[in-house]
Amino acid sequence: MSLPTHIAIIMDGNGRWAKGQGFRTRIRGHEVGVEALRRTAQSCAELGIRFLTVYAFSEENWSRPKTEVDALMRILVSSLSKELPTLMQHGIQLQAIGKLDQLPKSAQRELNEVKAATAGNARLVLTLALSYGSRQEMLGAAQTLAREVSEGKRSVESIDEAAFSNALYTQGMPDPDLVIRTSGEQRISNYLLWQISYAELIFMPVLWPDFSREHLEEALAQYASRERRMGKTSEQLNEQSN
Ligand code: FPP
Repeated sequence: MSLPTHIAIIMDGNGRWAKGQGFRTRIRGHEVGVEALRRTAQSCAELGIRFLTVYAFSEENWSRPKTEVDALMRILVSSLSKELPTLMQHGIQLQAIGKLDQLPKSAQRELNEVKAATAGNARLVLTLALSYGSRQEMLGAAQTLAREVSEGKRSVESIDEAAFSNALYTQGMPDPDLVIRTSGEQRISNYLLWQISYAELIFMPVLWPDFSREHLEEALAQYASRERRMGKTSEQLNEQSN
């Protein structure tokens, strides 16, 4: 069975979960969402997935009510230190992408500490997308490359797919093979638009806090049953595998 190397997840439905459970605020949904993330990262490490990238906070999320933004940042800071033993135990390396300098200083500090502490772990790379937006990421890459041309450091012709990929936050990472979005919404919401050009997309009705190992395995089974043609014909693919 073919296993994706890199899974990207849009963890959606925390607010609806909290409401459905009768909690007064959406925040409990985010707290329980962290547990779902811990389970999922652990399962990915055990199953042999090499990269897991999760949408934890989008650039657009800054416009949520201040109480919710503050709670999310508090959850981020407390989870980072609390989860370090789990990350070490499972060989998980932590990375982060996005406009990280927009995060509170305490979150930046905690992220740097956990990144440094887990830098030698090689089983799974868990990347948190924080204050992340794909269009903004691509604009940043275009600006970097344009600057290099104007400074005479590269030619216009040297800007190819590899050069563009290298100017993104995800430089050095393989592109996601599979995108999972929970909660039943069927949108990409400005997530890794360049990187998921050839990814399989799976939308699942489960709310993120309820996402379990079984849901992950169901997504992996669906992924394995799909034929990834990348523009080729079925016959060409069959010839390649013979
Ligand atoms: C989407 O659910 C979820 C988020 C905006 C945050 C995802 C965060 C976590 C799972 C916790 C980990 C958080 C950090 C910062 C590490 P929603 O609130 O949009 O739910 P709804 O669509 O039901 O309203």
